[in-house]
Amino acid sequence: SERTLVLVKPDGVARGLVGEVLVRIERRGLKLAALELKNVTEDLASQHYAEHNGKPFYQSLLDFITSGPVVAIVVEGPRAVSAFRQIAGGTDPVEKAAPGSVRGDFALEVQENIVHGSDSTESAAREISLWFPDLP
Ligand code: GTP
Ligand code: MG
Repeated sequence: SERTLVLVKPDGVARGLVGEVLVRIERRGLKLAALELKNVTEDLASQHYAEHNGKPFYQSLLDFITSGPVVAIVVEGPRAVSAFRQIAGGTDPVEKAAPGSVRGDFALEVQENIVHGSDSTESAAREISLWFPDLP
């Protein structure tokens, strides 16, 4: 079994899509290991998105992710990292996300794309310790 870090981003929380995301995680058979509504500080945001530092959209991404509360979730299950990336759909909701995925069903813009999911087990371990430092 594997863990991944999922965020319902500020657009998803503001649009009332937290339940929608949780339903899709749970009906797939994945389990919730931790869940918290959090206000995101600039410091947390810049650590979370460190890999994108220097890219043209970096500051815009930080402004977006700190614009309102997010729901942070540790999701657990067999191949949880890939399974949630499949639930989320590709980064660009129109060009890459399939209909039936969260992004393919609910998003239109590359930045405001509802959810985050860790992209590897290494990223998941780093992100989980960042968002849930007290989780065993
Ligand atoms: P996450 O699960 O959120 O990490 O998405 P991802 O792994 O599918 O994409 P990536 O890590 O490459 O980018 C992180 C986030 O930055 C994306 O989910 C978008 O919110 C945003 N982003 C990515 N590419 C662009 C871009 O070209 N323009 C803008 N404005 N935002 C982008
Ligand atoms: Mg990513």
